[in-house]
Amino acid sequence: MIMFVLFILIAAFSAKQVASQELSTPTNIIMALPKTMRAVGLYKYLPIADVNSLIDLEVNLPVLKEKDVLVEVKAIAVNPIDAKQRAPKPNVETTPRILGWDGAGVVVAKGQSAKTFNIGDEVFFTGDHRRNGSNAQYVALDEVLVGTKPKKLTFEQAAAMPLTSVTAYECIYDRLLISSKDKGRTLLIINSAGGVGSVASQMAKNLGLKVIGTASRPETQEFSLQHGTDIVLNHTQDLIPQLVAQGHGNGVDFILVNYDPFPYWDTLMKAIKPQGRICLIVDSSGLVDLRPLKDKSVTLVSEMMFTRIKYDTEDKIRHHQILEQISKWLDKGELKHTLTNTLSPINAANLREAHRLIEQQGMIGKLVLSGF
Ligand SMILES: *[C@@H]1O[C@H](CO)[C@@H](O)[C@H](O)[C@H]1NC(C)=O
Ligand SMILES: *[C@@H]1O[C@H](CO)[C@@H](O)[C@H](O)[C@H]1NC(C)=O
Repeated sequence: MIMFVLFILIAAFSAKQVASQELSTPTNIIMALPKTMRAVGLYKYLPIADVNSLIDLEVNLPVLKEKDVLVEVKAIAVNPIDAKQRAPKPNVETTPRILGWDGAGVVVAKGQSAKTFNIGDEVFFTGDHRRNGSNAQYVALDEVLVGTKPKKLTFEQAAAMPLTSVTAYECIYDRLLISSKDKGRTLLIINSAGGVGSVASQMAKNLGLKVIGTASRPETQEFSLQHGTDIVLNHTQDLIPQLVAQGHGNGVDFILVNYDPFPYWDTLMKAIKPQGRICLIVDSSGLVDLRPLKDKSVTLVSEMMFTRIKYDTEDKIRHHQILEQISKWLDKGELKHTLTNTLSPINAANLREAHRLIEQQGMIGKLVLSGF
C-alpha cells in the first residue's frame, strides 16, 4: 500500500546546521537512521508501583505513513492522559504499546506527502492516542500534530507545552468562544495551577478577561498568580462565599473545569451567570443533573484534544495552526512556559516516577523527561 511506501529522506543534520539546509543538496555527512531504538512501553496494564507497568524496550523504528514526519525525540512531557491510558485493566498487548503524546525534537525523515517540515527542523508536537507515542527515541507523527519549536525555549521547555497549550487554546477559543470582545468579563478556572489551567489563565488574561483561579496550597496559588490569574480561591473550601467576598456574588461569565466536575456540580450551577458557558475537560466520576442549565440558558461544552485527529474533522489543520500560534506567543513572551520539573534520562524507571507523580495529582505546571 502506498501508505506504507517510505520516502525517507535521510540527511545529515545537527540542530545547529539546519536553518538553511537544502533537502536536495545535503552537504553534510550522510547519517543513516538506526534500525532499532530505545523506547519505554507496556504489554500489561498494571499499577504504577509494579516494575512491569512501564518497561525498557529495544524496538524497530516506527513505520511512516504518507503524511508523517519522523521526529528524533529530545524531550517528552507526561500528562494525565498517559496515566489514564496506562491504568490497570485485564487487557494484554501482543506487541508493546508505547505511550506519550507530548514532546519536542528534530525531524529526521518524512513520508512522501508530508510538506510542512524539512529534515532538520526543530519541532514540538502532540500525538494520536491510537498510535505509538513519544516515549521512544523516534516517533512517527502526522504533520498536522507538529509545530515549529519556539526558538527561545529549550527542548525541555518546549516539550512541556504542546498538549496543554492546544487543549487550553481549544477550551478558550473554540469551546468557550472567548474573544477580545469579552474584555472585562470573568473566567473562573477550577484547578488553575495544573498544566492546562496555567496556560488557559494566561490566554484569557491576554484577551483582557478577569481570571479567577482555584488552588489549595501556597505554592500552587503562587504559581497560578504568576501565570495569569488575578485572584486565586481555595478549592478545599466552598467557592461560592469566596466569590461573594471577591465581589462576584452575581457569578462569572465563563467556567473552565480542569477537574472531575462531579464534586463541583452544584457550585458550577450556582456560580455561572445567566447565558454563561461552562467547559469540561475531565470525565465526570458520576452522573450530573443537566436540568439547572435551562433556567439560566447556560451552555455546557466539552473539550478533548484528540477529537479533531480521531475523527479526521474537516478543520483538523487547525491543530497545526494552533501549535504555530502557541510557538509565536512563546517566542514573543506573550505566553510563559510552564515547565517546573525535569527528570533525565528518558527510561522506564523515570517514567514510572513521572506517572506516579501525575497519579498523585496536585502537580504544579509540567513534568518533563529529557535525553536517552
Ligand atoms: C508500537 O510499537 C511496537 C514496537 O515496535 C510495535 O510492535 C507495535 O505494532 C506498535 N503499535 C502500533 C499501534 O503501531
Ligand atoms: C485552603 O483551605 C484548607 C482547608 O481549610 C487549608 O488547610 C489550607 O491551608 C488553605 N490554603 C491556603 C493557601 O490558605
